[in-house]
Amino acid sequence: MSSVLASVVVFFTVLHLTQVTATIRSCVQCDDAVSSGCPATLTSTPCPDSSYDQCTASRTTLYDANGAMVRTVVTRGCSRSSSVRNDECTYSTPADATLNGYFEYTCTRSCTTNGCNTFTPQGTAPGPLYCCIDRSGNNRYRCPIDQGFCYSTVVYRSSASQTGVTHNEVQGYELVSEERGCRATALTSQCSDTQLDGSNAVVTTCQETCQTHGCNDGWPHRPRCLQCGSIPSTVASGSDPCLYNPEEASACSRPYHQYCVYIDQGRSGRLTSNLADNRGGYSRSIVRGCSATDIGTQCRDIQNVDTTFQQCNKTCTADGCNHGMGGSSRPATSLVVLFVTSLLTYVTQSTFSY
Ligand SMILES: *[C@@H]1O[C@H](CO)[C@@H](O)[C@H](O)[C@H]1NC(C)=O
Repeated sequence: MSSVLASVVVFFTVLHLTQVTATIRSCVQCDDAVSSGCPATLTSTPCPDSSYDQCTASRTTLYDANGAMVRTVVTRGCSRSSSVRNDECTYSTPADATLNGYFEYTCTRSCTTNGCNTFTPQGTAPGPLYCCIDRSGNNRYRCPIDQGFCYSTVVYRSSASQTGVTHNEVQGYELVSEERGCRATALTSQCSDTQLDGSNAVVTTCQETCQTHGCNDGWPHRPRCLQCGSIPSTVASGSDPCLYNPEEASACSRPYHQYCVYIDQGRSGRLTSNLADNRGGYSRSIVRGCSATDIGTQCRDIQNVDTTFQQCNKTCTADGCNHGMGGSSRPATSLVVLFVTSLLTYVTQSTFSY
């Protein structure tokens, strides 16, 4: 016991000492523009003070207005940028105003160990990933080069085993925490429920990682859905963006919306893509959105006083899966499928009979 304690004490003392005697980073420091031969200079010297945590190298090529190379300058030195640069390149205009029409192409790469900046950036490495730090999607953070995943996690409370979900709201919902950022390793996309003792209170934790810029602005392990509704006035004038050209799928408003759905309503017996297939005087309409519950995937005739109309629901769980529309064009579709299938069988048979 005491030896464990002793080693813990030693460990913390060492840690403490390391922090106090903050090391001064050593980097290769040279500038082609000042003294030539920087590309070959590989001896490192200490940086000015301990605030410099990175070594960096840049290669700038100057081109004239016709795109002919004028010169290339390599510089190496110390830096204290907030993130490591993975051989990133940019175009710029030279500061010298007499170089009218000239442009510069600069590639920069940094690293975090002593004397590591012996390379000459070529601009061939992949650029960094940018991840959202909040749900707005507007605030993105440049990930360190060793972090190739954006992540999101959310914890929320709600009530389990509800008899009905009204207004698409889950009873007792409370958001506990949400977190977004960059990370080095992938997380399994999942949600898990923990039922609390003594009541139907449940805590749900969801997580997900993704690999494109800003991909972590939605709710983890939940689909992005098309969200719109038919507008009677546009339907009346012969168009309906929600039916025909819905906007791109977007994140749902709540982390418990596990489904994308649509409810399509139109003329009984022939709910096709035709806007004129109205509901006996009522306009054709579709609603697309997010749902906390599974509303099924089926069509049904609804009797409403003296009119009968068809209602088709769809429930699905992939991003943007609630596209398309309902309709009793299905029997026709299956006939086509049957026809194609038999044609394929025929083709296969004739192919193999020779
Ligand atoms: C479609 O979903 C709504 C909302 O849950 C439900 O009221 C309706 O009965 C469903 N219609 C069909 C055809 O399943």
